[in-house]
Amino acid sequence: MSTVEVRDLVKHYDKVRAVDGVSLRSADGEYLVLLGPSGCGKTTLLRTIAGLEQPTSGQVLIGDQVVNDLPPRARKIAMVFQSYALYPHKTVLANIVFPLKAEGMDKRAREERARWAAGLLGIEHLLDRKPRQLSGGERQRVALARALVRQPRVFLLDEPLSNLDAKLRASARDELKRFQQEIGTTTIYVTHDQTEAMGLGDRIAVLESGTLRQIGRPIEVYDDPADTFVATFIGSPPMNLVPRDGRLVGFRPEHLLPLELGAEDRVTLKLDVDRIEYLSGDRHVYGTATGLGEPTRVIARLPATVLTPIEPGRTYDFSIRGEKLRYFDAATGRRTDPP
Ligand SMILES: Nc1ncnc2c1ncn2[C@@H]1O[C@H](COP(=O)(O)OP(=O)(O)O)[C@@H](O)[C@H]1O
Ligand SMILES: [Mg+2]
Repeated sequence: MSTVEVRDLVKHYDKVRAVDGVSLRSADGEYLVLLGPSGCGKTTLLRTIAGLEQPTSGQVLIGDQVVNDLPPRARKIAMVFQSYALYPHKTVLANIVFPLKAEGMDKRAREERARWAAGLLGIEHLLDRKPRQLSGGERQRVALARALVRQPRVFLLDEPLSNLDAKLRASARDELKRFQQEIGTTTIYVTHDQTEAMGLGDRIAVLESGTLRQIGRPIEVYDDPADTFVATFIGSPPMNLVPRDGRLVGFRPEHLLPLELGAEDRVTLKLDVDRIEYLSGDRHVYGTATGLGEPTRVIARLPATVLTPIEPGRTYDFSIRGEKLRYFDAATGRRTDPP
């Protein structure tokens, strides 16, 4: 087990600022998720930690030791990529032992290690098969076992579930999390999928354009976003933002409720409803909010327990508890104090 840290890390490719000054530190045994849109620098950051890229400036530390000058192998890190190429003509067992063979471990010892890894991932019964005889999820586990046999200090996983279909992804996510809890290895997990990040991460580091916007527990980045980027990137539907007096007033869709359900400390608005969607029992009510700030399109998410009849084409009184409002600077998008 080990900590991972980057200090003022910069990686430029000519004019592209792929990573533009990022500092963060994982705890020992932590599951840290790097979350951000495509092109924000997640893969570059991970490859730099792994030693596959040299930083333009800044430091990479593993277990509090600066490893900038260590080659990838010496960093004792295992990386699983989005396209985890398995050798198609080798059996699962041969695929898993491959890195140990390359290191010169003897046959008996490496097969023992492979069986241990296969046992942890629940794939012992597949050891004699070829990759084409496996499902996507099983191939994924073989790739993880192959990374695991080297008993790395740190796992780096780059969108490892993105090749799986949605349903399989949910179960594979669950398995990955349980597996990591069992072995307790520090894991840095890259994804552009905020649902995956919220479900997996002990903490989430939100990146945009090569910079770190916020790092915190899932509930922190959700409830207390540091800026409007985080507020709208996390959450589905995203946080509503209404311009008012030179600021933006933010509130989550589930906090916008029909007036009679509101508490004492509340702000009210009128919602011109134009559309309603039903999603897993919730009603998503789309409309234009007036009376809070400038007229703005917003979404209210009403749980199935809210029975108030609502129809498109009509206007309703809604309210939000004052404590649920978040304020942002309209120019910079940064969080500000309430007025
Ligand atoms: N080898 C490279 N040469 C030039 N530009 C690159 C290279 N690798 C990545 N980039 C650029 O760096 C930025 C970050 O890319 P990447 O780290 O792959 O983002 P992500 O993984 O978040 O999608 C992108 O603009 C990408 O085009
Ligand atoms: Mg990537």
